[in-house]
Amino acid sequence: MPRATATVLGIETSCDETAASVVRVSEEGVEVLSDIVLSQAAAHAPYRGVVPEIAARAHVEGVDGAVEAAMREAGVTFADLTAVAATAGPGLIGGVMVGLVTGKAIAAAHGLPLMPINHLEGHALSPRLAGALPFPYLLLLISGGHCQFIAVEGLGRYRRLGSTIDDAAGEAFDKTAKALGLDYPGGPALESLAATGDPQRFALPRPMVGRPGCDMSFAGLKTAAARLTADPELAADATFPADLAASFQSAVAHILTERAAGAMSLYEALALGAQARRLVVAGGVAANGAVRAALTALCAERGYAFFAPPLRFCTDNAAMIALAGAERLLAGFTGDMDAPARPRWPLDEAAALASPTHAPGRKGAKA
Ligand code: KG4
Ligand code: ZN
Repeated sequence: MPRATATVLGIETSCDETAASVVRVSEEGVEVLSDIVLSQAAAHAPYRGVVPEIAARAHVEGVDGAVEAAMREAGVTFADLTAVAATAGPGLIGGVMVGLVTGKAIAAAHGLPLMPINHLEGHALSPRLAGALPFPYLLLLISGGHCQFIAVEGLGRYRRLGSTIDDAAGEAFDKTAKALGLDYPGGPALESLAATGDPQRFALPRPMVGRPGCDMSFAGLKTAAARLTADPELAADATFPADLAASFQSAVAHILTERAAGAMSLYEALALGAQARRLVVAGGVAANGAVRAALTALCAERGYAFFAPPLRFCTDNAAMIALAGAERLLAGFTGDMDAPARPRWPLDEAAALASPTHAPGRKGAKA
């Protein structure tokens, strides 16, 4: 019989955040008892991108402290836990191994089940940390490593409707920010710079817009923006950086919104019912104000409720991993001590296999 209450320690180490959290799921709902995120941003900043070896070492150094802090803040002991959940992929393999092995060791030492969690499932369920959100919903996951539309039909039932065919949106933000000489992570810095710029000054390419379906592409946009930064005449123009940042951001918001309209049509064709008109946006790029505003307007037009979880649940965190573990446990799934660490692990394996154009990327499977 599935248990009615689950108290789960979650561990997340797949990219550049070392995170641990305790989440309790019961009939009353979801309680985030603690949510510790140690960012490695400062360690990677000199390289303006995540360096896998630096990330893995920082996870080794940070994970025990993160777990200790999460347990202390939650006010629970290992005896109070129902299970341990750890990200088993996709992500930078060195980091994934650190978190997964730590989770297995804690589970073994305390006789608890180990729930291996797909990081993307964590993102897919993350809006449920913030309050009651029923299945099904349409999810737009936009981060530095992932960029896809997913119909979340229920726990473990995810249908990928479309994804980027090259870069993730966050990666395009980061690379464009780097070309503009901004600090890493580039998304927030680019957004601040864009605030004073003219979004109409540069007509940048918007690949895939107008095509059927909801696949996306950002490589051409990123390259076009980077090429402008190499123009010596523009470099001498004081308003150029802000204007380019604003033009780039507006192009991304337009691409995402136009593609979201395509995703809505595909989602509606799944016949999940009129009640299901919900769009959820998750992942780091969901923090972007211009992107949120454009998606909010689209939702109003199409009769969708728009959900954007609080930022701390949008970016990488361990609460979403603990939640996925708890929900799986309550649904009757069992633990797996032998689960391997997986650099690539599509959420919707069938869709990924059926569509080999969706190549995995630098930070793991974007597709
Ligand atoms: O979800 P996340 O923390 O990590 C993963 O990539 O999984 O997302 C990080 C990404 C980075 O590319 C970062 O530049 C982008 O989200 N990002 C933003 C903003 N805040 C974070 N992009 C645009 N505007 C923002 N305000
Ligand atoms: Zn993520």
